[in-house]
Amino acid sequence: MSLKDKLNKDKLPKHVAIIMDGNGRWAKKHGSTRIYGHKNGVKSVRETVEAAAELQIPFLTLYAFSTENWNRPRTEINALMSLLVGSLNKETDTLIKNNVRLLAIGDLKSLPRKVQKELNEAIETTKNNSGLSLVLALSYSSRWEIVHAIKQIGIDISNKKIDLQNFNEDMFVSYLTTATIPDPELLIRTSGEYRVSNFLLWQIAYTELYFTSKFWPEFRKEDFYQALYDFQGRERRFGKISEQIN
Ligand code: IPE
Ligand code: IPE
Ligand code: MG
Repeated sequence: MSLKDKLNKDKLPKHVAIIMDGNGRWAKKHGSTRIYGHKNGVKSVRETVEAAAELQIPFLTLYAFSTENWNRPRTEINALMSLLVGSLNKETDTLIKNNVRLLAIGDLKSLPRKVQKELNEAIETTKNNSGLSLVLALSYSSRWEIVHAIKQIGIDISNKKIDLQNFNEDMFVSYLTTATIPDPELLIRTSGEYRVSNFLLWQIAYTELYFTSKFWPEFRKEDFYQALYDFQGRERRFGKISEQIN
């Protein structure tokens, strides 16, 4: 029996975010290059997107490339960018077929033109889809996002579009790249690392964290269900006490 059947369909998270980690180590274990690991990670992306869409989870965010990943060897960066172009190109039809809407967050202007082009095309062609919203975090880091937001806020204060007296959390959120996206309720990280690596720091204030030792290329639907099942067993108190929740 699949864990899928044990899931309470009324208690699924509205937003799952994933730090897809461990491609390089998976490849090494198989005696191959890191690039081979990234290529094999695509199947895991496909499986996870399909699983989330089938369960009618509204938002899935995938951390695909961080600001800090620009510091990797040039050959690896180039391979990742080519893989991105190829995958966007190849998978757009599947996204349409599955009613998936593609979104992207991050410093998108820093991506190579070819990536920007494919990305914009895929976003444009899927924009009216009403199923899963798949958010790709590309050239993303939370500190970049927060500083970017503060710069915009500074401009709007000097233009008198907003005033500091009335500034609140909701207004701050509207300046983040995730303005139209609810906070994740569940964050999954693969590969056995217990850290958040500059991902959605503001947004995960009350997110449930789930770690698995599986490397990303090994991650399958059943692993996704496992994380959801674990999530459903937790009591989210948001600062209150148990009796107030139940
Ligand atoms: C995740 O796998 C993919 C990206 C960060 C782009 P890694 O490439 O970080 O693989 P490990 O963590 O070195 O095994
Ligand atoms: C986090 O993985 C970034 C992505 C998954 C895109 P990293 O492999 O870059 O994280 P660290 O360096 O181990 O923290
Ligand atoms: Mg890594």
